Amino acid sequence: MIVSHLKLRNFRNYESCEADFRPGINVITGPNAQGKTNLIESLVCLSLTKSHRLRNDLKLIRDGSEYADISCVCNNGRRKRLRMVIHREGKSLMYDKQMLKRTSEFIGLLNVVLFSPDDLTLFNDAPKDRRKVMDQEIGKVSSAYIRAVSRYQNRLKEKNSLLKQPSPDATLLDVLDEKMIEEEMIILQERKRFIEEINEVLPGIYRELSQEENSIRIRYETFVSFEEDLKEELARIHRTNREKDMEYRFSTEGVHRDDMTFLMNEQSIPDIASQGQKRMTVLAFKMALSDYIRKHTGEEPVLLLDDVLSELDSDRQKRLIARVQKAPQCIITATELPDMIKDLHPAVYEVRQGRIRQTGGHL
Ligand SMILES: Nc1ncnc2c1ncn2[C@@H]1O[C@H](COP(=O)(O)OP(=O)(O)O)[C@@H](O)[C@H]1O
Ligand SMILES: [Mg+2]
Repeated sequence: MIVSHLKLRNFRNYESCEADFRPGINVITGPNAQGKTNLIESLVCLSLTKSHRLRNDLKLIRDGSEYADISCVCNNGRRKRLRMVIHREGKSLMYDKQMLKRTSEFIGLLNVVLFSPDDLTLFNDAPKDRRKVMDQEIGKVSSAYIRAVSRYQNRLKEKNSLLKQPSPDATLLDVLDEKMIEEEMIILQERKRFIEEINEVLPGIYRELSQEENSIRIRYETFVSFEEDLKEELARIHRTNREKDMEYRFSTEGVHRDDMTFLMNEQSIPDIASQGQKRMTVLAFKMALSDYIRKHTGEEPVLLLDDVLSELDSDRQKRLIARVQKAPQCIITATELPDMIKDLHPAVYEVRQGRIRQTGGHL
């Protein structure tokens, strides 16, 4: 998949901006606070229907404007046009000329994998943030998964409010448990498969990028053992937890508490890894995500590297570039064009105060 054209209207500090991108490496240069990350963020929005760096969509609208309009043309042999308009009442999603009602229909039309310096928070954030990563990445390849998570969350809310009542109706709780188990089956199996598939490639990518012998893997932290029939196990857990749930007045166990632990030589990475090793783990994880997406969609995602090269020594930069160079398209931001990319004949752009112009490559 490649993004061949991007058009922004009243998005962040862009009043009006259009750019053509090329297959292969595209580098966006410019001093700080000019709009490089904003441009990357607009592509994340077209991929996930929301920004990676804030919850409130309205902040994406340029100060003083009524709406933001982001659109792109992408190409995987067939041209598709994606468009998202953010306004005070919400957002509209369009695929070619068609309005889409559900975000789950839009997600997956353009897949990107973002590499950002903020990714390091993966190791200290609350479990909720790591669940968000799982949900987001699995969601890129399965809209059934997105719908299961959303239904589960609704049931969970219903169950928790029922548990808050003075004497919750046991039959109603049974019904909710049964419905939750259905969604949990989907969620647990997809998350388990996701982590297994990431683990198949993660150690090798880490060794390649870091040239270290350390063994990296992710451990899935969940409440089931997967050692017996999943449906039976879930039914038993829900039954056993009933008393505790009634006492605490909320659902004490479930996929809403799942987590992932990143391990280096079987020890928790936040406990033992250096800053550099954490950085390499994140990069390897992101490359593994790209493999996962390709495996399930048959399509390579667009790689977005926002300001990550400057944090690596030149050998590691070289190895990362050697890897991302193989992707159909990679969009890299940096304050200046890194020397080692010059030889790869990238398309080069400069961003200044919300304006973009191409300064190198085929003009
Ligand atoms: N909603 C908005 N309206 C106008 N300007 C914005 C908005 N949101 C962010 N900005 C501006 O965007 C700039 C930051 O852009 P960013 O892409 O993060 O910079 P960088 O080039 O360093 O990556 C800042 O000057 C900020 O004030
Ligand atoms: Mg930036």
